[in-house]
Amino acid sequence: MKSKNEIPAYSRKDFLRTAGSAALFAALGITVTSCGSPTDPNGDNTTPGPNPPPGGSTGIVIDGNKITINLNNSNTSGLKNSGGWLLITQAQTIVVNVDGTLIRAFSSVCTHEGCTTNWQFSGGIFECTCHGSRFNTAGQVIRGPAATNLPEYAVTRSGDNVVIQK
Ligand code: FES
Repeated sequence: MKSKNEIPAYSRKDFLRTAGSAALFAALGITVTSCGSPTDPNGDNTTPGPNPPPGGSTGIVIDGNKITINLNNSNTSGLKNSGGWLLITQAQTIVVNVDGTLIRAFSSVCTHEGCTTNWQFSGGIFECTCHGSRFNTAGQVIRGPAATNLPEYAVTRSGDNVVIQK
């Protein structure tokens, strides 16, 4: 039986504070970068409500190839809005809200040389800062050196519950 792994999360604030420190992210190996959400690394278990959050204090649960995100968590709520995004390093996955409604998920393993954590997102464009490859919110290469699109994962959303199947 697969065990569920709860992972710590880092807010945009934390991300900005540690931006440029790829070594730190790599050392942690469990970073979640979010956009537009405050920090809440309290480490406690969120009190279950009518719809118990799947990810405890982080809003994210990784169970094998399945990632469940509760958008009501302060660490993930930025994903509710257009341009909100997450880098879930432990699952090597990028998640983005494309237009305020549509959420898409892709492998965070850059198709150039395999960097997994050096992602930035701005203006609808993902950039792997290892060598500058850029991808749009469909995962398509828009600037090399990468020549292959990012593999996309199936996303299902039910209200504020998002499930990604890798
Ligand atoms: Fe991403 Fe080279 S590994 S651009």
